Amino acid sequence: MSKVLRSLLFVPADSEKKLAKAGMRGADALLIDLEDSVLPARKDVGRAMCADFLKTNNTNSQIWVRINPLDTAYLEDDLETIIPLNPAGIMLPKPDGPVDIETLGLKIEKLERQHGLPAGKIKILPVATETARAVMSLSLYPRTYLPRLLGMTWGAEDLATDVGALTNKDKNGDFSFTYQMVRSQTLLAAKTAGVQAIDTLYDNFRDKDGLRKRAKAAFAEGFTGMLAIHPAQVEIINQCFTPTEAQVRHAQAVIKAFADDPSAGVVAVNGKMTDIPHLKQAQNILALFESTQP
Ligand code: COA
Ligand code: MG
Repeated sequence: MSKVLRSLLFVPADSEKKLAKAGMRGADALLIDLEDSVLPARKDVGRAMCADFLKTNNTNSQIWVRINPLDTAYLEDDLETIIPLNPAGIMLPKPDGPVDIETLGLKIEKLERQHGLPAGKIKILPVATETARAVMSLSLYPRTYLPRLLGMTWGAEDLATDVGALTNKDKNGDFSFTYQMVRSQTLLAAKTAGVQAIDTLYDNFRDKDGLRKRAKAAFAEGFTGMLAIHPAQVEIINQCFTPTEAQVRHAQAVIKAFADDPSAGVVAVNGKMTDIPHLKQAQNILALFESTQP
């Protein structure tokens, strides 16, 4: 399995200050942003700074780049600048569905070949729900051959704009029904496609307790990671998406109980009935844990 990306930190590509220490923030991945956090007049500067970062940065974080959408005039320059520098992956904003992931994959493939890079190593992470059309296409992901697809994530801001909503929150400040539904659909599509399910960002970046609550709940639901917009969010996210010691110990006990009794379809662990779905869950927890170890 590909290394699980628990925390993915957005860094605006045209900010010297934010790029400076980005590699030391402990994120599993950086998402150097060429899209919405960079104004049109700054696109060229941002692209050049991103290229510089890819050339010179020594970091344990994977370096990903969020390019501009496929239908923009920036796209070709983004790809021609970034792909030759062999980023870990490309985040694609505003795809309309998996056909756009195929299109991007072909463009990457052509540049990989031109620049003598190994074929297929550069992965793709779509923000899969930024238009209504995209949401309607989520179920097509598992039925499309997308070897570069590392995971799927979702966003509520652009979708709200696309559907003409005044807000995406309810009166308590939680996502309203449409966005909760889209979040669950993303989780199910990612799991069916066998890729990482990455939850959207928590925008109130000073509210650490709120973030912890959201991240813990997301991990419990099956998400494997979460987007971050501020360095202070990274450690909390990494913690919340790493199986706890107690979870690992329990998983080991479940696996041992089945190994000790190979003919059993059901065993008792700590006085609780434990069957095959629990065994699969235990194997999943251990695989996740191992993937998060340095
Ligand atoms: N990546 C890397 N470094 C960041 C950062 C980020 N996303 N956000 C803040 N920092 C740095 C600051 O430069 C500052 O560095 P210093 O310790 O060298 O002084 C430190 O973290 C503390 O920053 P702070 O003053 O708390 O935040 P801010 O008010 O400067 O910035 C935001 C707040 C929201 C503008 C900023 O976090 C940001 O730009 N986030 C990403 C936005 C983005 O990419 N959006 C697109 C995806 S939705
Ligand atoms: Mg956006």
